[in-house]
Amino acid sequence: MTALSRIAVIGLGYVGLTTAACLADLGNEVVALDTDLRRVAVLRRGRLPLYEPGLAEAVQRNAAARRLRFTTSYREALSVAEFAFIAVGTPEKKNGHADTAQVIDAVARMRNEIQGPLVIVNKSTVPIGTGNLVRRELERAKLAHAVDVVSNPEFLREGSALSDFMHPDRVVIGAESAEVADRVAKLYEPLGAPIVVTTTPTAEMIKYASNALLATRISLINEIAWICEQVGADVKIVADGAGLDRRIGRSMLEAGVGFGGSCLPKDVRALASMVRSSGKQPELLNAVLAINSDQRRVVIRKLRECLGQMDGRRVGLWGLSFKPNTDDLREAPSLDITRELLRLGASVRAYDPAASAQARRLLPRLSIRRDPYAAAAGADAVVLMTEWNEFRELDLERVRRMMRQPVLIDGRNVYDPGAMRDLGFIYRGIGRN
Ligand code: UDX
Repeated sequence: MTALSRIAVIGLGYVGLTTAACLADLGNEVVALDTDLRRVAVLRRGRLPLYEPGLAEAVQRNAAARRLRFTTSYREALSVAEFAFIAVGTPEKKNGHADTAQVIDAVARMRNEIQGPLVIVNKSTVPIGTGNLVRRELERAKLAHAVDVVSNPEFLREGSALSDFMHPDRVVIGAESAEVADRVAKLYEPLGAPIVVTTTPTAEMIKYASNALLATRISLINEIAWICEQVGADVKIVADGAGLDRRIGRSMLEAGVGFGGSCLPKDVRALASMVRSSGKQPELLNAVLAINSDQRRVVIRKLRECLGQMDGRRVGLWGLSFKPNTDDLREAPSLDITRELLRLGASVRAYDPAASAQARRLLPRLSIRRDPYAAAAGADAVVLMTEWNEFRELDLERVRRMMRQPVLIDGRNVYDPGAMRDLGFIYRGIGRN
């Protein structure tokens, strides 16, 4: 098959690697760049520097078909590229704003290596206006070739990134001209998804608005969960009942220990700081964040209700990653909860199918066990933190017999309260007692 387009992808985290592998799967010739030598060396050996279902196979398949290769050299990446996707990190600055230093650096390095007309496609989440700023900078530089800048935010969920790329609800393209937008849209045409073409600032805003809306739904259902506990209602059925209304929908209405990860918390804080910079208080966004951090305290409160003092207690944790099917611990509720339990004098034994190695580095005092039973053995309480599928298939009778006290705090409402009580557990879900 002849290559459809020649594409460089800059920055090989979850987003960059998924984008590179999927664009190669669609038949394009992709050169994927990261400045981290070790990361590139690992990828060249056909291994992954991170855990994402299906991604290793996609990388290997496309590398073998010579549609995907890895480099640390901007010259090599740009030698024949018609498109350069930027997917570098935009970490949070002290004031909450997203730091665009890596985006600016990538553009500066690219500038020196541009060897023909190029469309820079930005996937990194950047403060609104960054795309226009970069475009004006490049115009001022009076380069020998035409260079366009397009915003194309990503909506990939960790754990299902490949399928989100291949089956998107929509593709958003923010461009200066219809012609450039159309060229980027062509890359996505095989996916058959609706394509929203708009200005660059609007595209950048769609990314923040989407994550803020998702985060708001989670905090709202968590607030409703709290009320459910006071009035004896079941939040899961409340979410089902409300979610059947097509205007509302059922997704992102799981009450629990709150949202974590590399996007939702950071993007809501960035949007809040944008509001502050414009002289207004982000009342709703502040509440979304406050409710979310309070959900961590809810778990501790429930443990105390069941066990009294936490000093000397032994707690088992099931799941550490911020969500299932990833090894990512960024802003994972488990980190805050473990630290608080240790501070209160409890000992904590945890099991996670993928995040153990990372957790060992971040929480040296946490004892990591090889399976969920070992984490529960001798415990005064078990807390389910992440709804990995394997926790749905446990021999819970065996778990109860192994525990010192049969307290189970279900931070993701995985189990049926009645069935758990029948099994002899002192069971507490979120918003359903
Ligand atoms: C999110 C966005 O969904 C994605 O579009 C964006 O590009 C990146 O950020 P991700 O962080 O991978 O993706 O995970 P997501 O599935 O959105 O979950 C985020 C957090 O919310 C997780 O901690 C999850 O456990 C929590 N969550 C999710 C809930 O507490 N309740 C829900 O109903 C859904």
